[in-house]
Amino acid sequence: MVNFVRVAQTSDIPAGEGRSFEVEGKMIAVFNVNDTFYAIDNVCPHRGGPLGEGYLENKTVTCPWHGWQFDVTCGKSTVNPAAAVASLPVKMEGSEIFVGL
Ligand code: FES
Repeated sequence: MVNFVRVAQTSDIPAGEGRSFEVEGKMIAVFNVNDTFYAIDNVCPHRGGPLGEGYLENKTVTCPWHGWQFDVTCGKSTVNPAAAVASLPVKMEGSEIFVGL
């Protein structure tokens, strides 16, 4: 069963941006794509860059370290089919954002 944990509120993450959060010892990245929120593993599979601090354009985040790109809605790399990060379920309760670990 998925354990949903409160991570942030909607006002913490402006539209078109992402943020990194530590939740129960795990680093996750949450993105606001036109006021729909998506969560993925924060750790870039290349060398561990913080994806939540990357540049978000539409639903694609660019890793701030060396530019790998991922679709934040599914965690898949947009350039390398072999690379992906975990995509985590998001649940909203009013303005509170919960992520399933
Ligand atoms: S650590 Fe993300 S692209 Fe290198």
